[in-house]
Amino acid sequence: MEVARINGGQPLHGIVHVSGSKNSSLAILAATLLTAEPCIIDNVPDVSDIRIVLEILQAIGATVEYLGPNTLKICAKNISNNVPEELYSKTRGAISIAGALLARLGEAEIFLPGGCSIGARPIDLHILGFKKLGFDVAQQTNKIVISGKNASATDIFLGSKFGSTVTGTVNIILAACGLAGETVIESAACEPEIVDLCEFLTKIGAEIHGIGSPTLKIVGKKQLHGCEHKVLSDRIEAGTFICAGLITRGNIEIRGLERHILGSLINLLTTAGANIIENDIGIFVDGESNLSAIEAVTMPYPGFPTDVQAQVVALLTQAGGESLITETIFPNRFAHVKELQKMGAKIDMRGSTAAIYGRTQLIGSEVSASDLRASASLYLAGLAATGTTIVRELQHLDRGYDQFEAKLQKIGAKIERVKVKA
Ligand code: EPU
Repeated sequence: MEVARINGGQPLHGIVHVSGSKNSSLAILAATLLTAEPCIIDNVPDVSDIRIVLEILQAIGATVEYLGPNTLKICAKNISNNVPEELYSKTRGAISIAGALLARLGEAEIFLPGGCSIGARPIDLHILGFKKLGFDVAQQTNKIVISGKNASATDIFLGSKFGSTVTGTVNIILAACGLAGETVIESAACEPEIVDLCEFLTKIGAEIHGIGSPTLKIVGKKQLHGCEHKVLSDRIEAGTFICAGLITRGNIEIRGLERHILGSLINLLTTAGANIIENDIGIFVDGESNLSAIEAVTMPYPGFPTDVQAQVVALLTQAGGESLITETIFPNRFAHVKELQKMGAKIDMRGSTAAIYGRTQLIGSEVSASDLRASASLYLAGLAATGTTIVRELQHLDRGYDQFEAKLQKIGAKIERVKVKA
């Protein structure tokens, strides 16, 4: 078994290049199934969630060819609906394949995703959307079979008490591309990854209006063809590196992120006293100044992203006073707190709010990652802690960070992976 060994206390200095967005890539890879022509997708991160989805695409008949380390040529000329359950259940990122198969073949299967370590992950809105489009939805023991003899374009409200749904929006956009007429999605997710998907779909010939807004109009059944597309950069990875620069009191420059997609995080941390400048060259993070406590609530885009909440909680252990971070998207997404407490963090949970008392000297410890962003949170804590931190369960980190240790090493982190007995 591999663990990460981090010797903390080194301020990070230098330039980091952000990889392509995992969540954008997952949606776009599913969308390549909409056309029989080849698509060339660049800036795809090499992470395990992506590798699993590529395996699924191959299993259903698509050809996948690497033209470079992050450039893929995918051709879905002859595909079937035989998505292997064992692959499907390995990542929630596979769920958007259903919408693509509905558009292309008129039928799809979803293997029921269970809860996961960030809390319940219902798919009722996906199902509601498919039903609204007129698809027949039949639940068998562990799978849902969706088929579409009577499907047709219509208006759909896709919101829940937690706001919009990202992969639900992806699924309905993709399914609607295969239906004649106009589908209007109200309360569509507005995340940059949805915009990126819509830009890809427009390139392959789809007609989508209102891109980036909560009301999307999809005019379906257009003639779709191949294209070349470069995936958006990963704003959550960039946000993680901002926190790394600050928590180590370093000085780093983050390059490659499109401008104006991380404003909520930059604004929040600037309010806490951080010195962060975003310009056309990159994001400059100067960790010299002392941070003060802040309050923040996770929200759908353009709000403070849930995917960076765990990293910010780690950072706030170094901010003076009591910070309050409330999670509204996944109310139980706080598994990192218990591990941070092992490292000496003073954090109280009050329902879905973490009260973090800083500044606390974190102490190197043995901790276990429970999900992707919790892993990043523990890495950050390890970078700031005295002594050595061991992070276990790295398979979670590997789902979504490409070359994380190498990038950290390049800016001065003392971090390595070592093999230990399980
Ligand atoms: N929800 C429902 N019913 C549904 C779907 C969602 O009630 O049918 C609720 C969820 O329980 C949650 C909220 O709606 O409370 C938002 O969930 P959403 O559907 O937007 O999440 P997702 O599509 O499953 C994507 C990202 C997550 C990210 C969330 C929120 C992908 C593959 N995953 O998940 O990314 O946290 O949106 O922004 O795009 C990550 O990268 O670490 C990650 C978990």
